[in-house]
Amino acid sequence: MVVPADRALQEAIQVAPLIFSDDVRRQKIENRLEQMRFSAATVRRIQNVFKSEMEKGIHQKISSLQMENTYIPELPNGTEEGLFLALDLGGTNFRVILLELVNGVAVREDVKKYHIDSEFRMGSGIPLFDYLAECVSDFVINEGLQDVELPLGFTFSFPMIQHSLDVGILATWTKSFNCPDIVGKDVVQLLRDALDRRGDTRVNVLAILNDTTGTLVQGATQDSNTVIGLILGTGSNACYMERADKVEHWEVERHGEREVIIDIEWGAFGDNGVLDFIKTDFDRESDANSLMVNSFTFEKYISGKYLGEVVRVILAKLTKEGLIFVNHSPGGLLTTGNLTTDLVSHIEQDSVDGDYNSTREVLAKFGIIPDDDDLSAVQYVCEVASNRAALLVSACLSMLLERIDKEEVTIAVDGSLYKHHPRLEGWMNQYISLLAPGRKFKLMNVEDGSGKGAALVAAIAQRLKKRFI
Ligand code: GLC
Repeated sequence: MVVPADRALQEAIQVAPLIFSDDVRRQKIENRLEQMRFSAATVRRIQNVFKSEMEKGIHQKISSLQMENTYIPELPNGTEEGLFLALDLGGTNFRVILLELVNGVAVREDVKKYHIDSEFRMGSGIPLFDYLAECVSDFVINEGLQDVELPLGFTFSFPMIQHSLDVGILATWTKSFNCPDIVGKDVVQLLRDALDRRGDTRVNVLAILNDTTGTLVQGATQDSNTVIGLILGTGSNACYMERADKVEHWEVERHGEREVIIDIEWGAFGDNGVLDFIKTDFDRESDANSLMVNSFTFEKYISGKYLGEVVRVILAKLTKEGLIFVNHSPGGLLTTGNLTTDLVSHIEQDSVDGDYNSTREVLAKFGIIPDDDDLSAVQYVCEVASNRAALLVSACLSMLLERIDKEEVTIAVDGSLYKHHPRLEGWMNQYISLLAPGRKFKLMNVEDGSGKGAALVAAIAQRLKKRFI
């Protein structure tokens, strides 16, 4: 039974029907995918579980949401000045960035990307940090700044337990990293030690932060209503400005802070089983194929590293069950890891354009010449999986808007999935409006929070240091 207030929601979350020549197979495919579709009641349940996990996390009770204190109590105020270094570690490319800030605005930005081979990403942590320090030296020396003291903000996009603005204990690796020997260590210290071992630059690590935090801080320079930072990229996470008096985990001396940024680490939402009511056999298999099995439940439903794999697992099952690719072999399309999320985004373009051109292009890459039913089914699966991701993110954001309870909230968003998926933004606008009725919000694209945001956080750290020493 749908309660009247949920009727609009129930209608909005429908996807286009599957068009198929064979009614029996169509029905079977739709039934098979039914578990990926939510009723309005399920969405409400997700909202409630998220709300309660946030509340538990902030009160230091057992929760799958870390609700980590970042110790950043204020946003840029337009006085940030000088040369700053920013490091961005989170994906397979490590970025070193030099920024010159004038009145809180980046007037110069030099960036260099360094590829991190899998031997560094999945070995021991010390060689990884030695490599990071080598990249920093290479960059700083090339800039001719080896003798200049450079304040640095380190964007480290993994879960950390923060003891202060410049102490971050690695809680667990995610995405494509796994160097187990440094879990539980302070990554700022590891970086400082590696830089000291080289001794060829004068870099001063002032702050460690998460990419969501950098995005929020950078967003705040563009729109003063920004109080949420969201990443929908390889991984997914969000942070927000919380009232300081609600935050129990606070290890350093307080100085009358009124607010502080909280890193939710929502990728791990559901790791304790609270979201099991939406888990499908497709999710179980996609998890089993992942680097860190049984962790980052929520991230595996929604983010760029996994969405393609979820689609691939569904297509593989439908093929095995004789429902699709009956006349043509799907070839390499069904090999684990082969259907990346950028291809899902590309296929989704067809749902916007109302044709099959992109789907055909993607399938052609795998040597498949599909019939109309295959085209239609592939598109349908991409739509269902993408739509579920949009709903999940929107359900959490709606609860965050309730929690923040401000008249107008701007959500600063970054990440490849959000930027390249043609329908996520539209769905999110629609669903958040329905799930948080009466709340005024805006989704704002922010570029390079991990770079510019990190420099701004380093400048804020400098300001706080001067004020309290
Ligand atoms: C993963 C990390 C998180 C980060 C997110 C987006 O979920 O644990 O810290 O913010 O990816 O990059």
